[in-house]
Amino acid sequence: MNEADEAPKPSGMAQLPKGIGIALRMEGVSKRFPGTLAVDRVDFEVSAGEVHALVGENGAGKSTLMKMLAGAFSDYTGRIRISGKEVALHSPAAAKSFGIGMVHQELSLARRSASRKTCWRAVFP
Ligand SMILES: Nc1ncnc2c1ncn2[C@@H]1O[C@H](COP(=O)(O)OP(=O)(O)O)[C@@H](O)[C@H]1O
Ligand SMILES: [Mg+2]
Repeated sequence: MNEADEAPKPSGMAQLPKGIGIALRMEGVSKRFPGTLAVDRVDFEVSAGEVHALVGENGAGKSTLMKMLAGAFSDYTGRIRISGKEVALHSPAAAKSFGIGMVHQELSLARRSASRKTCWRAVFP
């Protein structure tokens, strides 16, 4: 049995094809703002069923890295693969088509919502 078969599958989420352990891989991704190299050749991978925490000081590039996945930037460089296939996440619609949603760090958007409900809303708006 491979990793993907063993990984728990959240109900209601898009199911990943069987036989693929690495669900998401970012390879040498970079994003530059005018005057700032916010993300510099970052590699990051997530296997099916894993939960990750991204930790770093203010300004380290955490939000920028996640916004890349959420399709916020059309001008990142490097490669993003989903289930082994290279994808272009250059718009929120493109990211959504791969089941990627983001809960932005904006409390006023979710003041009256429970955190779980807020997270589901990012995937199923
Ligand atoms: N829209 C933007 N325009 C210009 N610079 C930005 C923008 N967003 C982030 N940055 C810069 O990119 C760097 C990384 O920011 P960010 O990803 O927000 O870090 P973190 O989430 O780890 O605190 C910082 O130097 C920040 O000032
Ligand atoms: Mg941030």
